[in-house]
Amino acid sequence: MEIIHVSAECFPVAKAGGLGDVVGALPKYQTQLGQLTKVVMPMYRTKFLLENEWDLVHEGGQYLGGNFFHYSIIKEKTNKLGFDLYLVDINGLLDREKIYGYDDDTERFVGFQIAVCDWMSSWQHKPDIIHCHDYHSGLIPFMVKNCFPFSSLADVPTVFTIHNAEYQGWIGWDKYYLIPPYDTFKWGLLDWNKTINPLASAVRCAWKVTTVSPSYMEELRYSANGLESLLSSEYGKSAGILNGIDAEVWNPATDAMLIKNYDEHTVKEGKKKNKKELCNRFNLDIDKPLIVFIGRLVGEKAADVLPDAIRSSIYQHHGVANFLILGSGEPDIQSRLEDLTQQFAGYFSVYIGYSESLSHIMYAGADFLLMPSRVEPCGLNQLYALRYGTVPMVRSTGGLKDTVKDFGDWQGYGIRFNHANVEDIAYSIGRAIDLYTNKRDLFNWMRSYMMQIDHSWDTSAAEYIKLYESLK
Ligand code: ADP
Ligand code: GLC
Repeated sequence: MEIIHVSAECFPVAKAGGLGDVVGALPKYQTQLGQLTKVVMPMYRTKFLLENEWDLVHEGGQYLGGNFFHYSIIKEKTNKLGFDLYLVDINGLLDREKIYGYDDDTERFVGFQIAVCDWMSSWQHKPDIIHCHDYHSGLIPFMVKNCFPFSSLADVPTVFTIHNAEYQGWIGWDKYYLIPPYDTFKWGLLDWNKTINPLASAVRCAWKVTTVSPSYMEELRYSANGLESLLSSEYGKSAGILNGIDAEVWNPATDAMLIKNYDEHTVKEGKKKNKKELCNRFNLDIDKPLIVFIGRLVGEKAADVLPDAIRSSIYQHHGVANFLILGSGEPDIQSRLEDLTQQFAGYFSVYIGYSESLSHIMYAGADFLLMPSRVEPCGLNQLYALRYGTVPMVRSTGGLKDTVKDFGDWQGYGIRFNHANVEDIAYSIGRAIDLYTNKRDLFNWMRSYMMQIDHSWDTSAAEYIKLYESLK
């Protein structure tokens, strides 16, 4: 089968979060399963672009509203990611340093989707599946089915994966002219609540809708940032398929970013060396349990609760645990965390920013990884933590619920709690401290047990292929 993944992110080309990880890994595993898998994404001005060699494979032009634009498609020469990688360049629109965050993001991503559809319609053949990820490619299921310039693609099956329904890509109807021509009586397929809603449109128009964990699929019927009734009515064509991890990139035995590599037999020694590096760098105490948080500092991740929860835990548990945070996001949360560093030097530290290499050392060197997320469609951090022998402490929601079992349950290996509030987090930190200090044998068993759980993409990549086949 020829599968085209369309996405705004793909690791290591450009990544802002888990979407990048998924689109960098799932296609590789699908290729290994014998499929012809392609990824197409915008050409941002990234290090990956500059450091690799590219072939120009197509040039074309289309309209974005009244403006005609030229685009080109380049392909990475050596197939180094394990699948065919294509980048779309639209002069002035896409070649920027950041992925998101510009005033003209609407025009950028609509232009990108038009170029992708135009390119595919120029082929002599048709792809078997167009698989779109999140709202940045959410208009494609509508466009291929309904927009006149792409009518040759109207019968190509589309699959849409919701990685996060909180972000829907709303576009005011005053920008209706950006969408290529279609029979205007079909406007309702684009609309939700008097706005063009790319995520809602994709849920309506895609042949199949998937989410990144079974529990999130269920939750969306009751909590989907306004789309609950739509997700309930389209439930019949939807499936929850749990994300996997790229077990080659995320392997503590070979990870080149670590200070010391290790496997389930050498986990104790290996983790200690990585922890030592973190403790030296951030002025923390290696003898205390190290609890870390890695991620976007936003309400969805309950990062706003962290300053109070950490302060309260340090007092309540008499400073017997250390904390380290890596992340960036809302300025208010960032500055509250920075203030905490002054107050609790030696107990708490934070790195505001994005650092792939520090994140790997933290997954390896930490004893516990905290994820109090209010919303977590799947979550990859806890899967990396498991692979690196770091006990996940998670709120029971979405994919966290599907992948972490509390150590109080039979063969459990993590800590779960119900509420994203100071009380639940501080209580869970108490349990972590007790596990680390008084239940050492269990703690060591958990570490090597969780490292052996297979969360690679093997199973889920095959599940997606089964789903595509059902559409043939
Ligand atoms: P989300 O996509 O909602 O942010 P996920 O858990 O699916 O959450 O994935 C987050 C990904 O981004 C993980 O690979 C995590 O390690 C990475 N990440 C998040 N914040 C940072 C950061 N500040 N520095 C490095 N990596 C980060
Ligand atoms: C989103 C979700 C996260 C998920 C990731 C990859 O960013 O917030 O939970 O793991 O997508 O699917």
